Amino acid sequence: MQKKVIIILGSSRSHGDTRKLIDRVREEIDADFIDLNDLQISYYDYEYKNQEDDFLPTMKMVVEYDKIILASPVYWYSMSGVMKTFVDRFSDLIRIHKQVGRQLRGKQLYTISSSSDSTVYACFLEAFELTAKYLGMDYDGYLYGWIENEEIPKSLIPALKSFIDKLK
Ligand SMILES: Cc1cc2nc3c(=O)[nH]c(=O)nc-3n(C[C@H](O)[C@H](O)[C@H](O)COP(=O)(O)O)c2cc1C
Repeated sequence: MQKKVIIILGSSRSHGDTRKLIDRVREEIDADFIDLNDLQISYYDYEYKNQEDDFLPTMKMVVEYDKIILASPVYWYSMSGVMKTFVDRFSDLIRIHKQVGRQLRGKQLYTISSSSDSTVYACFLEAFELTAKYLGMDYDGYLYGWIENEEIPKSLIPALKSFIDKLK
């Protein structure tokens, strides 16, 4: 049976702000979870000498899901380095593991992000939207959040609810 939702976290801290948003989403919907900090995934290698690391087994598992959520804090207007290293490896799926890459087509991609405040950086989101398009995926939206005094601010609740509705 096809699985539904998987959330992949790439943050320099596993239990920080981005994780708080993920945990809140997971209170409402049944979503599996991967923390990239638990895996060994190396930088993209033009010579593919890194094929024994965790990237390919992880992606073989990820393609079993209908809805794939990439969760990253905003670091310098971009995705985190941990997430970028993972996303760079999608090139393996285009070049040498095409069978796995093709299985991403038609699936839905989402973003969960956390930043300092409510300012939404288009450049942050565009990287995910355009990556989805390139891979033949549908980019179906994002939760762009922030944390105040260790908590999810009340003003974020409507956006959180509508994001969760998309995943049901
Ligand atoms: C290296 C670094 C770069 C950051 N750059 C930005 C930025 O460009 N814009 C912004 O709004 N916040 C920025 N922040 C703040 C984080 O996005 C914010 O604190 C976020 O909630 C952290 O999530 P985390 O706990 O999952 O790392 C930066 C934080 C760090 C550590």
